[in-house]
Amino acid sequence: MRALTWQGKRDVRVETVPDPRIEDPTDVIVRITSTGVCGSDLHLYEVLGPFLDPGDILGHEPMGIVEEVGPEVTALAPGDRVVVPFNVSCGHCYMCDRGLQSQCETTQVRERGTGASLFGYTKLYGQVPGGQAELLRVPFGNTLPIKVPHGPADDRFVYLSDVLPTAWQAVEYAAIPPGGSVTVLGLGPIGAMAARIARHRGAGLVVGVDLVPERLSRAAADGVKCLDLRRHGKDLGDAIRDLTDGRGTDAVIDAVGMEAHGAPVAKAAHGMVGLLPDALGERLMETMGVDRLAALRAAIDVVRRGGTISVSGVYGGAADPLPMLTMFDKQLQIRMGQANVRRWVDDILPLLTDEDPLGVDGFATHRLPLEEGPQVYKTFQQKQDGMIKTLLIP
Ligand SMILES: NC(=O)c1ccc[n+]([C@@H]2O[C@H](COP(=O)([O-])OP(=O)(O)OC[C@H]3O[C@@H](n4cnc5c(N)ncnc54)[C@H](O)[C@@H]3O)[C@@H](O)[C@H]2O)c1
Ligand SMILES: [Zn+2]
Ligand SMILES: [Zn+2]
Repeated sequence: MRALTWQGKRDVRVETVPDPRIEDPTDVIVRITSTGVCGSDLHLYEVLGPFLDPGDILGHEPMGIVEEVGPEVTALAPGDRVVVPFNVSCGHCYMCDRGLQSQCETTQVRERGTGASLFGYTKLYGQVPGGQAELLRVPFGNTLPIKVPHGPADDRFVYLSDVLPTAWQAVEYAAIPPGGSVTVLGLGPIGAMAARIARHRGAGLVVGVDLVPERLSRAAADGVKCLDLRRHGKDLGDAIRDLTDGRGTDAVIDAVGMEAHGAPVAKAAHGMVGLLPDALGERLMETMGVDRLAALRAAIDVVRRGGTISVSGVYGGAADPLPMLTMFDKQLQIRMGQANVRRWVDDILPLLTDEDPLGVDGFATHRLPLEEGPQVYKTFQQKQDGMIKTLLIP
């Protein structure tokens, strides 16, 4: 089959690789029909190289048609249409029972001390072959894949794999009071969808911050009060306090993560780690790694006293300097983590209707053949061509 593989920093290629096979009796093989490219993939493209091997298959936002099922799969049959959550979760362990599928105890990567395995996401998360490919082996076929109806285009359902549950959890963890206010830092796919969900669920004021013009204008069209970081780099906190009686917003969602614009020292450190031999780079990241913290620091500044910060952006540092004095003094609550995809599906599915209240049908800015994957990664990273969300079609 054809699959998009990681080869090195800013080097991904579509190659011919062996087809996946049923390995366990509850496996299913899915023929992928649409597969998203995520901001998380950009971390693999840029800074997480020490945790990948050339040839690793990327991608964790796929959907498609079941092609083959293992002998113990009863919940699905060939021909069924499914979306695959990005967490590999078993559905019946202590953590899955509590809706913490990103911590699944059956797939935790214990030798690395990390949570549930993820499709297409480094040795830290099990080095599981990903879904930017023609075919994907999906374990736990009776509980993991989300069965969806035939009929509407893939766009209607594909974001159940990541964008929708991640944005839903971001809003849930933000604990915005009814009619209250939230700042969303970063208006990529996750931030844009979180802003829509926050409005849909009754937030009174949603402030959005980014520095890419078309991302700002798209969110503004959704009813978000947008602030351009290029203009408010220094006075963002004051600008947001001006909108909220001097207090800051009740909640802040960080939908940026470790590669934030505006953190030059950590950016240099990331560049250096990327140049080291893998073993050294990996050790350095695990012991002394620092994130680019501009977004998280902004969150701490713009949230009101006693407010909540909900971190969806991925961080990976081990020695990040944080302003503990301010965090303690402001009595902040912070929640974070990979989305527990399966946990939110039942809440979201009723919104995926023809009325389309979250606007998923028109969410993708690009729909391109898998073979164009390498160019898509480049364009997406450089934020060119108005690219916000791309679905690759194998
Ligand atoms: N927690 C989860 O389960 C989960 C799931 C999916 C994605 N993510 C993470 O969420 C983050 C966003 O993902 P995405 O797909 O929307 O990616 P993206 O890279 O398209 O979006 C990030 C946005 O942040 C903006 N930005 C950069 N620096 C900023 C700053 N200092 N202040 C405000 N905005 C800034 C960028 O211009 C960009 O539009 C990434 O870190 C990704 O890894 C987490
Ligand atoms: Zn994703
Ligand atoms: Zn589990």
